[in-house]
Amino acid sequence: MIDAVTLQRTGRALAGRSGATAVWDLRVDTADGDAAAARHVRHQTLMRAYQARYMLLPSEAPAGSVIDHLNRHYDPEAMAGLEELRRGLEAELIAPLLIPARAAVDDRPFGDWADALVAKLRAAPEVPLTEWLADHPQREAHYRNFLLQSSADLLAEASASALGVIGEFGAPQSALFRILIDEFGYGSHAKKHSVLFRAVMRDFGLPDEYNAGWPLFDTAALELHNTIHFLFQNPRNFFLQIGFLLFAETAYQRSTRDHFRYLSRHHPDVDARYFGEHAHIDLHHTRMVIDEVAQPLVDQYGAEAGREIMVGAEFTRQAFDRAGETLLAIGRAFDAAAEAGRAVYAAPDFTGFGPGVSPQGAARLTAADGPIQIGGLGYVTDAAAFTGFPAGAWGRLSGARV
Ligand SMILES: [Fe+2]
Ligand SMILES: [Fe+2]
Repeated sequence: MIDAVTLQRTGRALAGRSGATAVWDLRVDTADGDAAAARHVRHQTLMRAYQARYMLLPSEAPAGSVIDHLNRHYDPEAMAGLEELRRGLEAELIAPLLIPARAAVDDRPFGDWADALVAKLRAAPEVPLTEWLADHPQREAHYRNFLLQSSADLLAEASASALGVIGEFGAPQSALFRILIDEFGYGSHAKKHSVLFRAVMRDFGLPDEYNAGWPLFDTAALELHNTIHFLFQNPRNFFLQIGFLLFAETAYQRSTRDHFRYLSRHHPDVDARYFGEHAHIDLHHTRMVIDEVAQPLVDQYGAEAGREIMVGAEFTRQAFDRAGETLLAIGRAFDAAAEAGRAVYAAPDFTGFGPGVSPQGAARLTAADGPIQIGGLGYVTDAAAFTGFPAGAWGRLSGARV
């Protein structure tokens, strides 16, 4: 386990290299004392290690030399230090999550399993979030929080899986590349999936720049982001990656249809093309992953490869479920606090963030510390109300008057 002193030193170094624009904001929180905060900061640090592998430019030219900015943001010495930490953080935070996924997979032939998975996901009931919000008077705040938490990954959609496409591995590689170019709008920038996601963010009053929302990500959102990157930033996870794609494309064809209907009905003025496009294209992507990637790999490399693909899919299912359940649990805890007069729904304020705090850590706060901002939901007005929030929640002190 990486010690707290090393993490604090890394946090200070990241803050020192941080640029003034959202995409080059490298800061992480400081964990002081409680286990939940320590876990959150470890996930933030792991996210920074993964983000360092991408090309990121701000939408508007920054003050000063852009070359100097790049030299600092992608400084090879600093990146090597983060890489060193990455291995330990992955072993501590992500690798243990593979154990229940491995235990859940049996010896069924791959083809039978894939057919059953597709049939099951297609027949699944409406996704819990949209079903819950259909009659909810505060649906806008909850949906805004869903978008904000999802933005950790979706504002750079398909950059993680792009890392699984480069290399040299036969015909399945070309099928994966065809899926990838769909994700990037087939070369048309306006249709790139991350660009479509930006439009939904803007219509809910959220900043659409990559990484702008990091101070408000809860631990579950960070864990999901890091789980996906753990798969794709380690080539030895190749067959697990295929399992991720198989599950994600299959689940997405169904969930995005529910989201598209939900937005059309309850927020008809919102640009919902992100969801409409996925409800259509992921039908094809599911078939492509199964027929042109997974099955040919199993035919060529045998049952062991098939089993690893199934483990990857199960690993992904559990990760999506944990993130989805945590989002609902935090939303319900916020509703209960609001009902008790101890929270108010409000659009997040991105102009000034105070220190982050876990529900455990909130026990040390007093009324003088002021309201605590919770994701995209609003503010808990007294710290004691936050102490009962579920594990994985993350708040941020703010100077806001509510
Ligand atoms: Fe996509
Ligand atoms: Fe897709």
